[in-house]
Amino acid sequence: MEVKYDVEQFNSIVRNRRSIYPYQYEKGKVIPDEIIWQILENANRAPNHKQTEPWRFTVFTSEGLAYFANLQASVYKQYSGTNFNKGRHQKLLDYPLMASHVIAIGMKRNVANKLPEVEEIMATACAVENMFLTVTAYGLGCYWSTASITYFEEAKQYFDLGNDDKLLGFFYIGYVAKPFEIPSKRKAIQEKVKWIDKNIST
Ligand SMILES: Cc1cc2nc3c(=O)[nH]c(=O)nc-3n(C[C@H](O)[C@H](O)[C@H](O)COP(=O)(O)O)c2cc1C
Repeated sequence: MEVKYDVEQFNSIVRNRRSIYPYQYEKGKVIPDEIIWQILENANRAPNHKQTEPWRFTVFTSEGLAYFANLQASVYKQYSGTNFNKGRHQKLLDYPLMASHVIAIGMKRNVANKLPEVEEIMATACAVENMFLTVTAYGLGCYWSTASITYFEEAKQYFDLGNDDKLLGFFYIGYVAKPFEIPSKRKAIQEKVKWIDKNIST
């Protein structure tokens, strides 16, 4: 069988992928927009049932990062109620400014074709994994955050998401400044797989 791609290279991208956090980025170093578009193009190739293409992205960079930082901090302050935490609020103001780009991840629900909601969330998560792998291939760092205002209903409107849609978090990207451990820790795959290669019905 002809192998069309460099599988070793691909395995190494997948296995060396890490979540790299904003404090590990080179502050102020900006990734060219063309690379961000490549990352988004690959997100757009994710599998999706009934071709609903539910992923939606809002990209913040340059002055947009300060706009996003203030936006998430003020939504958090306004709607966190008794869960308000001063340290978390400060992080929301600081973190975006350490990144080159922050991408808000949305799931746009296609109610008409009656797909279970979870399928549109899964398709969007596939899109995010494509982004992760592309970022790794470029030698950059990224992480997916579902902290902050991700699950605040009041936040959706700022990312062009309606009542049926979901905000699924924020994808931070930057040049890596601090070394990190690879690969990430995992228990053996054999512990998570049941393998049936004979007829076990009684
Ligand atoms: C859906 C999702 C949400 C996550 N949200 C957060 C988060 O809010 N804060 C955080 O520190 N890490 C978050 N992470 C990163 C995980 O902690 C990380 O993937 C895990 O520790 C494994 O490390 P690795 O990605 O380097 O393999 C999230 C990951 C996923 C997939």
